[in-house]
Amino acid sequence: MVIYLDNNATTAVAPEVRQAMEPFLTDLYGNPSSMHTFGGQVARNVEEAREQVADLVGAHPTEILFTSCGTESDNTAIRSALAVNSGRRHLITTRVEHPAVRNLCHVLGQEGSVGGGYRLTELPVDSQGMLNIADLGDALDDDTALVTVMWANNETGVLFPIDPIGGLCRSRGILFHTDAVQAVGKVPMNLADLPVDMLSLSGHKLHAPKGIGALYVRRGTRFSPFMVGGHQERNRRGGTEPVPSIVALGRAAELAKARLDEEQTRVRALRDRLEKGLLAKCPGAMLNGHPTARLPNTTNISFEYVEGEAILLLLDQHGICASSGSACTTGSLEPSHVLRAMGVPFTAAHGSVRFSLSVYNTEAEIDKVIEVLPPIIRRLREISPFGRDELARAKP
Ligand SMILES: Cc1ncc(COP(=O)(O)O)c(C=O)c1O
Repeated sequence: MVIYLDNNATTAVAPEVRQAMEPFLTDLYGNPSSMHTFGGQVARNVEEAREQVADLVGAHPTEILFTSCGTESDNTAIRSALAVNSGRRHLITTRVEHPAVRNLCHVLGQEGSVGGGYRLTELPVDSQGMLNIADLGDALDDDTALVTVMWANNETGVLFPIDPIGGLCRSRGILFHTDAVQAVGKVPMNLADLPVDMLSLSGHKLHAPKGIGALYVRRGTRFSPFMVGGHQERNRRGGTEPVPSIVALGRAAELAKARLDEEQTRVRALRDRLEKGLLAKCPGAMLNGHPTARLPNTTNISFEYVEGEAILLLLDQHGICASSGSACTTGSLEPSHVLRAMGVPFTAAHGSVRFSLSVYNTEAEIDKVIEVLPPIIRRLREISPFGRDELARAKP
C-alpha cells in the first residue's frame, strides 16, 4: 500500500473527475468549434468548465483561458506582459520561484537569447522564506514591465502577501502576475477583489489529470497570445481544445471549492500532527519555512547531517512517497534554490524532506510515517561519520 505524501508534485485524479471526463473520451468526441450540433454540444461543456474554474478563483468566466499546464500559463502571462509593454525592459521576480517562472526569467535576462536582454531583479527572501514588501517597493521603477511573484511556494508552502504586492504594482501602473499553481484549491481566493492582473493554475495539482491548466487574465488587461493558431479561446490560445481534460478541470475546480474548508481544517490538522510528531521524535530536525503563513498541506523538514535522497529511498521501502529539497543531477547533490535563498545551512538543506498532503490522506497514514521515519534518521546518522561526530559532540 502506498502512503502518498507528495501532492505538491502531483495529485491523484479524483474518481468524480474521472467520471465527468469519461463521456468525452468515448461518445462526445466532437470538436467544439464545429458548426454541427454534435460538436456544438461539446462547446457548452467547455463553457461550463470555464464557469467552474472561474468560480473557484472568484473570476468572471471570460477571464479564464485554458492552457496545457501551469508552465504554459506562466510562459503565456510573462511573455504577454513583456509584449504589450515593449517599451519597458525591467522584469521583477523572486529568488524562490518554480523553474516554470525562474528559468524563463533567466532566459529573458540573458543578453542575446531570443526575446532576451531584460534587466532582471530577483527579490530575496528571509530565513523563513518570506518576501519583504519594502524590497519590492525599492525595485519598482518606470522601466518595470511586469512583476511575477508566486502565491504559494511549492517546496515550503510559504504564502506571499499577494494583496499588498499587487496593490503596490497597481499603484505604479505595473502589471502583476502570480503563479498560483500550488495555492489554487488550497487557499480561498476571490480575484474580483484582488489587484492581480494574471494568475496561473494547473489541473494536476488539484485532482484533475496532467496536461491541463488555465490562465486568468483580468478583463481589460492587454494580452498577446503565446500559442498562435486558430480562433479558439477567443483568439487568445490557438489549438483544438482538449475537451476531456477541460471538463475534468472544471469538475476538479468544483470539488476543490467544496473541499476548501476540509483543506483548512482536517488536512491542516494532519499536517500539523505529522510535523509535531517528527520534530519531537527526531533530534536536530527543523522546519523550513514560515510557521503560519503557509499552505495547510505542506511541511518541509530538515534532518541535519543526513541526505534527503537517502531518507526518501528508505521511506520508499515502506511505500511512503515524499520528496527532497536536493536533486542528484550529474552526480553532485545540489541543494534547492529555495532553501539556499532562505540561507538554510548546507548540512540541513541536504537533509530536507517535503511532505505534501491531500484530502485523501488519513490519520493512520500520518501515524505510520511518525513511527517509521525516526528510526530511519537514527540509522542514517549512525552510518554518516559527520552525523555521528556531531551527535557525539551534542551529547552532554
Ligand atoms: C509553483 C509551481 N508553478 C508551476 C508549476 C508547473 O506546473 P505544470 O507541471 O502544470 O507545468 C508547478 C509544478 O510543480 C509549481 O509547483
